[in-house]
Amino acid sequence: MTRSPEIRIFDGLEHLSWAAATRFEEQARVKAIEKKPFTVALSGGSTPKPLYELLGSPTFAGRVRWPNVQGFQVDERCVPPDDPQSNYRMIRQALLESAPLPEENFHRMAAERPDREQAAREYAEELARVLRPAPGEFPRLDLVFLGMGADGHTASLFPGSQALDERTAWVVPAFAARLNSFRLTLTLPVLNAAAHVIFLVAGADKAESLRQVREGPEGRFPAQLIQPARGSLSWFLDESAAKKLKRQ
Ligand code: 6PG
Repeated sequence: MTRSPEIRIFDGLEHLSWAAATRFEEQARVKAIEKKPFTVALSGGSTPKPLYELLGSPTFAGRVRWPNVQGFQVDERCVPPDDPQSNYRMIRQALLESAPLPEENFHRMAAERPDREQAAREYAEELARVLRPAPGEFPRLDLVFLGMGADGHTASLFPGSQALDERTAWVVPAFAARLNSFRLTLTLPVLNAAAHVIFLVAGADKAESLRQVREGPEGRFPAQLIQPARGSLSWFLDESAAKKLKRQ
């Protein structure tokens, strides 16, 4: 039975990003003390960018033991890594170019490759190499940052997408019909195997879908399918995104 999620509402994206960066720092410290790698998966889109910039800033550069961090991507658009649409490009500019994270500790999704199935398989091999799950187990990330689209999608798991039904593969190509484009994405079993998942959701354009995702009938939106079986789920929201939610 999954625990009820933590819901935190902030007055804006700045404070939301600070809280998320602090949570990252806390989780990274726990792993450093345990002398275990801290494995984290980062989403693309616009909402997490200020968080990545904060983590890359001098404030957090010294507060995180970066050589102990292993960074992965939640999903990627099928474009070259220097394309303006590339999630890797955004993460590189916001975080990797400033944080003292060893280059080999960030694992890019090579979604530009023509053979998307092969690229997905190779990324799964990279997850296996670093996270070393027990045979038959899904890789267990320590922390996953997710976003949510106004259509209730998360990662590159879009409403009605076949990728939502994947139960064995760790990474798959996914077609985003609304965007008429392909993506590579971690699958639901991998996202739900994580120890800690944090949704970062901001902006009034998300308010209605967030209300439906949080308070509407189950199973209608991909974001509702994020239920870490042996982990915790948090929603970090700004006021405008949370404005239609029933308050406790
Ligand atoms: C992507 C993301 C995607 C994103 C949502 C929200 O590649 O676009 O990983 O799942 O999190 O689309 O995007 P915004 O943060 O830009 O609203």
